[in-house]
Amino acid sequence: MTLEPDDSAPGLRELLAFYAEAGVDDALVEEAPDRFAEAERAAQQAAAAAVAPPVAEDRSATQRQPAMAAPPRPAATAAVPDETQIALARQRASEARTLEELRQQLADFDGCNLKTTAKNLVFSDGNPEADVMLVGEAPGRDEDLEGLPFVGRSGQLLDRILAAIGLDRQSAYIANVIPWRPPGNRTPTPQETEICRPFIERQIELANPKVLVTLGGPSAKLLLRTSEGILRLRGKWSVHTTAAQVAIPTMPTLHPAYLLRNPAHKKLAWRDFLEVKAKLRSLS
Ligand code: URA
Repeated sequence: MTLEPDDSAPGLRELLAFYAEAGVDDALVEEAPDRFAEAERAAQQAAAAAVAPPVAEDRSATQRQPAMAAPPRPAATAAVPDETQIALARQRASEARTLEELRQQLADFDGCNLKTTAKNLVFSDGNPEADVMLVGEAPGRDEDLEGLPFVGRSGQLLDRILAAIGLDRQSAYIANVIPWRPPGNRTPTPQETEICRPFIERQIELANPKVLVTLGGPSAKLLLRTSEGILRLRGKWSVHTTAAQVAIPTMPTLHPAYLLRNPAHKKLAWRDFLEVKAKLRSLS
């Protein structure tokens, strides 16, 4: 459906622009639910129930009023993110013996609400045999449509950064902490992140890169298990330790989307990637 704002709908253009800027650029269902009508209906039902005369004990079955209609339920019932789902995610991830098995485990996993609104699973791009693995936060709109990480504007910047140190998608492996696009690009909840943690940790373990690069704060915090901010973390070598206790040298750096918004900080990322280049040289 194409929405054509016209003079009969003053303000619609501004409203659509506001939605687009807020990241609301996709419809989740065909018809917009009327939350005001739903709330009004629920209030009317509650008021009717409050004034209804008590049902006489001896009324025959034929005299009984039909039960109050239940409020409409949403079409898709999302899984409840809780400890059970985290435990299930851990079990599924640990069962995967190869990256392909891990991708399949993720595709079959229904314990993360984000899957219900995403169009595609965004598992990885690049070469899983590469010496360096880069981990971002979560797919955006373009990544969701293509099913590949970092293909939008920030991905194009990432490609330029990689090229500057002699790398490309044949010599780097790329993934995200969260493999499904959060609706409207919202920040994933801590529970969603914890549900996805076992999968990205296993993905790193199976890819077994010589060097890990985290892109942005959320990825650094999760994989380095720290609450320190990215501006403090970046540029300093740290270590990601896998479940099998393999220590992988890790460089936290700024996210390409942040660099697009703050071009003055590109020089900081440049320094970080020169460190990565030197480390890869020293390890080869
Ligand atoms: N931002 C990310 O963190 N990952 C992507 O894949 C795209 C944008």
